[in-house]
Amino acid sequence: MKNYSTDHPRSCSGQAWSSPWGANLVHHVFACTALALLVIMAAMTSTMVQASDPDQLQDFCVADLSPTNPVKVNGFPCKPSANVTSKDFLFTGLRTAATGYTTGIKASATFATVFLYPALNTLGISHARLDFGPGGVIPPHTHPLASETLYVLEGTIFTGFVSYEGVLYAETLQVGDMYVFPKGTIHFQINVGTGHAASLNALTSQDPGLLFVANQLLGSNIPDAVLETSLGINATALKYLQASLPSV
Ligand SMILES: *[C@@H]1O[C@H](CO)[C@@H](O)[C@H](O)[C@H]1NC(C)=O
Ligand SMILES: *[C@@H]1O[C@H](CO)[C@@H](O)[C@H](O)[C@H]1NC(C)=O
Repeated sequence: MKNYSTDHPRSCSGQAWSSPWGANLVHHVFACTALALLVIMAAMTSTMVQASDPDQLQDFCVADLSPTNPVKVNGFPCKPSANVTSKDFLFTGLRTAATGYTTGIKASATFATVFLYPALNTLGISHARLDFGPGGVIPPHTHPLASETLYVLEGTIFTGFVSYEGVLYAETLQVGDMYVFPKGTIHFQINVGTGHAASLNALTSQDPGLLFVANQLLGSNIPDAVLETSLGINATALKYLQASLPSV
C-alpha cells in the first residue's frame, strides 16, 4: 500500500493545498488555528469524562447482557485471591519439544497462552516454543493482537516479516540471536540448518490470535468465485491449491 500521508500536504478541511503561498494562506492559518483549538478543547473535555477503551484481548466478545451474569471483564473473570498459590504462576509446558512435528510443515508450536497458563490473564504477555525438523517451516501467519520476539535456542533459522508497505525484512539467525515481528505483520520461519532447530517466542498479548494466511484464505469457505478472481486462477487451479494445503 502506498503511504499517502507524506505525499500531499492537506488543509484543515482535508483538501490538497493548491497554492500554499497564495492569498488563501492567511485564511488557512486562521482556520487551522481555530480548528486546532476546538480539537484540543474537545480532547480535554472528553478525557475529563472518560478514558478510551483498553485494547481488545480477543477477536470478538459478543456481550452477554443477562443481568444474572456478573462477569464484566475484557478477558476472563479472576480466581479469588484466597485460592491463588505459587503453583498458579508456574508453567512447565515449555520444558520439552513438542512430541512430533505437524505433518507437511515438519515443525510444531507449543503455546503458553492464557488458556494453558491462567496466571497470564490481564498481563499482556504470552510465549510459544517453536520446534523444527530439517527444512521445517512455520507458514506465513500473523498475530492480530501482539508484537512478537523470537530467540533461537537451537539450530539456524531464517525468518522475516512483511511490513504494511509490502517490504520483506528477513535474516538468518544463529543460536542466541533474536528477531522481532511488529504487531499484525505477516511472518514465517524456516529451519535452514541440517539438524533440529528451536526458538522461544514472546508475545505482547495473553491471547495473541494466530492466523495462517494460506489456510485462512483457501480453507475458510470463501466462495470460489471470489478466490478465483482474487488470485487470478481458474477452478482447477483453485481445487489443486486447496487440496495441497498442509494442515497447521
Ligand atoms: C476457592 O476455594 C474454596 C475452598 O477450597 C472452594 O470451595 C472454591 O470452589 C474455590 N473457588 C475457585 C473459583 O476456585
Ligand atoms: C486452468 O489454469 C491452468 C493454469 O493456468 C491451465 O493449465 C489449465 O488449462 C486451465 N484449465 C481450464 C479448464 O481452463
